[in-house]
Amino acid sequence: MKNSLEPIPETITYEELSSLNNLIKHIYDFDFSSYSGASLKRRVSRIMELQHLSIFDLRTLLTNNPEYFESFIREVTVNVTEMFRDPDFFKAIKNEVMPYMQSYQKIKVWNAGCSSGEELYSFAILFIEGKIYDRTFFYGTDINSDVLAQAKLGIYDLHKMKVYAENYLKTEAEYTLSDYYTAKYNAASINHSLKKNILFSEHNLASDGVFNEFQLISCRNVLIYFNLELQKKVITLFYNSLANFGFLCLGSKESLRDTAFEKFRVIDKKNNIYQKIA
Ligand SMILES: C[S@@+](CC[C@H](N)C(=O)[O-])C[C@H]1O[C@@H](n2cnc3c(N)ncnc32)[C@H](O)[C@@H]1O
Repeated sequence: MKNSLEPIPETITYEELSSLNNLIKHIYDFDFSSYSGASLKRRVSRIMELQHLSIFDLRTLLTNNPEYFESFIREVTVNVTEMFRDPDFFKAIKNEVMPYMQSYQKIKVWNAGCSSGEELYSFAILFIEGKIYDRTFFYGTDINSDVLAQAKLGIYDLHKMKVYAENYLKTEAEYTLSDYYTAKYNAASINHSLKKNILFSEHNLASDGVFNEFQLISCRNVLIYFNLELQKKVITLFYNSLANFGFLCLGSKESLRDTAFEKFRVIDKKNNIYQKIA
């Protein structure tokens, strides 16, 4: 490791990145090569810069220290999230998807790439308000164990809750967000009534398979980090994980590509909400 006063190489070249990917694949059987190159290069460069590591240091650490690899995964993934992030999306769910959900006896929802849980708790609130929470089970999955631990706790900074409350209001909410958490000092603790039907667990979209059959899958702001090939693979995984006429919700940043369109009907073009039809 370098002395912090020494100038450090702050970036990694694509060749170095590719050889790092090979090393990780070889030792940990974890394939980073299907992550979008530019974004991965930026994140790894940032780690090297913050931790004052040369590419040699990084390779040595990854080779000899499995615990470092765990923290490396946590640093490489982007975990930014919010409750009711992009309120227009949740308005569309409420108006266009909820009536279908209300017609089902039992509902399973999968939030893939759920980060620290805010997105799934937002869905849970919509389902409470749609009076179908009790017949729904929610699964939140991610590859990052740190954010999953936060999601399970369901305790968020009270300052963030102010932003989340504004998002919630923009969904034409009938209540206030504070109905769903208990505030103590600077923290907001999500109420048990919201958490009781939710399970958070690890699942890697790049390598793990189907684990249940769902009426609704939401995966927003995740596919953007994957290359085209992995995006297609994950869309197939979602297709195989959906019940007939189930809903796939990708949000405003990601859409279905070419052939996948034949298997889905567009419910909301702007928010990329689709229904499985074939
Ligand atoms: C930017 S966050 C999106 C969170 C939330 N869906 C939202 O839109 O606010 C992306 C999440 O995808 C997760 N992720 C990245 N690669 C993944 C993979 N291969 N399998 C599962 N989750 C992954 C990251 O750990 C991160 O928590």
